[in-house]
Amino acid sequence: MNKLIVGNWKMNGTMTSARNLAAELVTFQKNKPVQVTVVVCPPYPYLGVVALRLMDSSLRWGAQDCAAHENGAFTGQVSAAMLKDMSCQYVIVGHSERRSQGNETDEHILQKAQKALAAGLTPIICLGENLQEREQGKAVDVVLSQAQQAIPEGKCIIAYEPVWAIGTGKVPTASQIEEIHQALAKKKPVLPLLYGGSVKAGNAAEILKIPHVNGLLVGGASLNAAEFWAIAEAA
Ligand code: PGA
Repeated sequence: MNKLIVGNWKMNGTMTSARNLAAELVTFQKNKPVQVTVVVCPPYPYLGVVALRLMDSSLRWGAQDCAAHENGAFTGQVSAAMLKDMSCQYVIVGHSERRSQGNETDEHILQKAQKALAAGLTPIICLGENLQEREQGKAVDVVLSQAQQAIPEGKCIIAYEPVWAIGTGKVPTASQIEEIHQALAKKKPVLPLLYGGSVKAGNAAEILKIPHVNGLLVGGASLNAAEFWAIAEAA
């Protein structure tokens, strides 16, 4: 399976920095080509400028979220069909920041993923336990329950992102990652599994060696082209 490296830019940057970052990645792909699939997920307003930069490259783009509805009176929301219209191929759904800040449940996430699939996008569905659940020994149960409820039938990608590892510099041990990925691989045997949470150029190769890790979802480190490309090269 071709490894997949996804950059989640979150709510960062300006139009100029988004355009420059995309252009730098294209230059890296030209000068230091990688065989892996590289995807960036900029903020919605910058999808257009990023798409223009990446169009003639092998790099792909996606969004950080989509609506659970097709169209209509949903002020401020963006539909999966609109993202498809912007030539997105992927959309992240169920990121822990959306779950906590947007009060999203597994049910909402399932609906979003279904809308993404119906629009012809590949949803990257995020799952992960919080610190309390980890400390109580419930991590596997929590993640499997999220997988059971939030993942529709179809061509989805799963991203295991322990909440306590996101943006904290804390990375689970290889055996903690392996335990969760093993359980997910057993439950959803055909779906690619990404790991996310404090991935850097310095730890990417080690994480990618863990069985059932098919790629990485990268937050902070995806905002720096050289660092992000080093992660792609590690894959
Ligand atoms: P991080 O974020 O790499 O900055 O920890 C990962 C994510 O939120 O997808």
